[in-house]
Amino acid sequence: MASKLSPLLLRSAVRTASRAPRTHIRTFTAASPRRSDTLAVHRNTPDNNPDIPFKFNAQNEALMAEILKRYPPQYKKAAVMPLLDLGQRQHGFTSISVMNEVARLLEMPPARVYEVASFYTMYNRTPVGKFHVQACTTTPCQLGGCGSDSIVKAIKEELGIKQGETTKDGLFTFIEVECLGACVNAPMIQINDDYYEDLTPETTKKLLAGLRESATTGNTANVPKPGPLSGRQTCENSAGQTNLTSEPWGIETTRADL
Ligand code: FES
Repeated sequence: MASKLSPLLLRSAVRTASRAPRTHIRTFTAASPRRSDTLAVHRNTPDNNPDIPFKFNAQNEALMAEILKRYPPQYKKAAVMPLLDLGQRQHGFTSISVMNEVARLLEMPPARVYEVASFYTMYNRTPVGKFHVQACTTTPCQLGGCGSDSIVKAIKEELGIKQGETTKDGLFTFIEVECLGACVNAPMIQINDDYYEDLTPETTKKLLAGLRESATTGNTANVPKPGPLSGRQTCENSAGQTNLTSEPWGIETTRADL
């Protein structure tokens, strides 16, 4: 009898225990609290509020039609990310009006679009300068070459701003970011869509000065080509080729039996 009752008793004991009030214990963390709500909250400002109209231009409307062809019509909301990107490229940043327009076009609740735009930090939800300088400060970039600390210092010195700020002339916004996937060419920075790699404080300052000159005078001669600024083509060994230096063996050497 007791053995028949025991599963019932056990189940009711588990149910009772699960209903018992729980003590909420906050896990211990040594990290300092984040006091900014800019990542999650929109606040209306003169340059970013829903009353500012936004429409895609004719060129982007054509691109949008191409993008929408990739998805079945009933799933067109799947195009939310490329359309937000398109809106950011046209408007300069992903304003609330850009998000609302994307929601209207894709027939989505605006809150769903806000969720996407506020989750991915690549959507700039506040205005940025003409050149958005993103310095990678993750471990490989901190340790590679001269290290990202010296690159960050050079950027601050050249631009006269701190992380998260925009220069008074509106040309540069500087932020620090996590790994951008070019660790083998550390340290590196991303400026708009381009990567500049194998940096030193000197090449970084020259690059920023060249970009400033290109924006103010139109002379682009001093803006280096994106990629490694050390002379490497891509990520090949800077000491030159160290293996596979002899003639490849012929088949008769590797397969003497043939
Ligand atoms: S750590 Fe900087 S690109 Fe990966």
